[in-house]
Amino acid sequence: MSKRQRPQVDYTLGMCFYCDGVYDFDTEGRKHELLKCFDCHRNAHTLCSGFEKTSAEIVQTYDWQCNDCKSCLVCQSKNDEDKIVFCNHCDRGFHTFCIDPPLKKVPEDNWYCNLCSSMPSPPSSLPSPKLISLVDTTNNYSLRRSPTHTAKFIESAKMTRQHKSSSVPAATTTTKLTTSSSTTSTKTSTSTSSKRKLNNHTAQDENKDQSPIIKKIRMTVTDPILIKRKRGRPKGSLSDGEDEEEFFKTFGNKLSKSEADTKRGTPNESDKIKFEKAKTKSAPLTPASTTEIPKITQIAFNHYLIDTWYVAPYPEEYSQNPTLYICEFCMKYMKSQYISDRHQLKCKAQYPPGDEIYRDGNISIFEVDGRKNKIYCQNLCLLAKMFLDHKTLYYDVEPFLFYIMTEVDDRGCHFVGYFSKEKRSAMNYNVSCILTMPIYQRKGYGQFLIDFSYLLSKKESKTGSPERPLSDLGLLSYRSYWKNVLYRELENQESPISIEELSNRTSLTPDDIISTLQTNNMIKYDKVTAQYSLMLDVNTIKVHLSNIEKKNYSRVDPDKLTWTPFVLSRDRLAVLLGQTKSTIKNIDESTDVDVV
Ligand code: ACO
Ligand code: ZN
Repeated sequence: MSKRQRPQVDYTLGMCFYCDGVYDFDTEGRKHELLKCFDCHRNAHTLCSGFEKTSAEIVQTYDWQCNDCKSCLVCQSKNDEDKIVFCNHCDRGFHTFCIDPPLKKVPEDNWYCNLCSSMPSPPSSLPSPKLISLVDTTNNYSLRRSPTHTAKFIESAKMTRQHKSSSVPAATTTTKLTTSSSTTSTKTSTSTSSKRKLNNHTAQDENKDQSPIIKKIRMTVTDPILIKRKRGRPKGSLSDGEDEEEFFKTFGNKLSKSEADTKRGTPNESDKIKFEKAKTKSAPLTPASTTEIPKITQIAFNHYLIDTWYVAPYPEEYSQNPTLYICEFCMKYMKSQYISDRHQLKCKAQYPPGDEIYRDGNISIFEVDGRKNKIYCQNLCLLAKMFLDHKTLYYDVEPFLFYIMTEVDDRGCHFVGYFSKEKRSAMNYNVSCILTMPIYQRKGYGQFLIDFSYLLSKKESKTGSPERPLSDLGLLSYRSYWKNVLYRELENQESPISIEELSNRTSLTPDDIISTLQTNNMIKYDKVTAQYSLMLDVNTIKVHLSNIEKKNYSRVDPDKLTWTPFVLSRDRLAVLLGQTKSTIKNIDESTDVDVV
């Protein structure tokens, strides 16, 4: 009895050449997209071809070629087919030697072409079309691959198959590859473009159905679910929906499905505009503006989290986090809470380094020499910079003395504020930089510090003035202080008094006195006599002073100061040593000498 001969099928007419099916949906309700090979025009279901959803969508966006017809995208040649690798994502083919940089051999693992690997992250869950081809379309491969194709490649096919389906012995692999060619012969197409691959096999139709191996392969290719299993979806791996979800995760879930669609490869005009906009937006900031971006936004200091106002040039590695931890006793700055906690356990400092020169109740003031306690003073300057707009010194602290105001309790001397002062000021400044920590501001401590600086000037028998420029708050504070001081001096003044006399009494410079009197409308110019006179509204002065008293701010008590000024000049030193100036000319200028 002659065997029923399978009628020849034209696979260009809508029937999948893998499953012979024409149905659009499989039993699981998944849509079967029908691909058409650009060269041979044969149809294949995307699922039967082993493509997951994303790959299935991609292969429909370009002139896809089936495995039989696959050419290298770069050189367009179909020669050296054993050197053609298939992208695991888009199924495009490339010669190993056409890829840039060339591949030394056909990769055994999933491989992604340059187009796909430039995506944020190639979806690793997708099966490899290359491997699928070897397993399920062995018929096609067998047609394409010459018997001389590299053992390595067959070996890789074997391994794959063993891995995917251990039931198929490795030894049968080659047989399969060879035998299965007959399967393809049953799929002879009348299409001229497919003749190249199919014309040798028309005589082998009968054998196909008899061969158990072929049968097995046929089973494999006609059952997409089986294909999936055999293609090695790892146990417990993602379902189709999850695959899709996983894929969009590669865009950080920021893009909509349509935005994430990679079908369109060439940017259009609107894409270019968007790109240019994004480029401008992300253009590197100029160095000037970069320094203005505060990375540190707050400091942890004495159990407070204090918002910073300006940027301070802390080392890069300390500027990465929004919070900087600073020990209020030793001024060490730290990156993390953990380090700070550890430091608190170890830190022995309970008060600033240097000499306590003033103590009144719970207020103590320490004098710290920038030369003797360099790190402490540098750290202090950095801290101050976070509340100062204008440039200030950070590192060259040696020529300065720092006066640290603290509030004392049983935990130690808590840093309230400070001012720095040049050891020798050519401009006669008595304050270089002044700061009250924000947690202590508007409590009169600024006034206290300013008053203290003038007390030191008085002890030095000098007048003094703050270094310019003053910050807004600095100017407000100084104006307020100068006004208060002059009001106090003039409250009971009845006889004429000169600016010079006022300056001697207060240590304010004549300039600061005049500007304060002018600001408060206390100087009158008589055009007739061409003389200036002091105009005092005693009532206004009294009301103002009584308002200040009500605030009950701490006031400096000059008697509580234990301090002798620094003396540095060569002349002074010579006098002290009972020598002539010339005999001590080799003394280092920076050497500080305490006068006792
Ligand atoms: N708004 C309005 N007036 C203010 C303000 C403010 N925010 N701050 C201070 N003043 C004026 C007020 O007249 C105030 O007196 P009042 O409270 O009786 O009305 C007066 O200045 C002094 O107030 P204090 O409480 O004594 O000063 P404070 O302890 O707040 O410290 C300081 C003032 C040191 C200027 C502080 O604001 C600070 O550290 N600022 C940041 C650093 C800074 O700018 N330093 C000065 C730089 S200039 C130089 O260093 C020479
Ligand atoms: Zn410390």
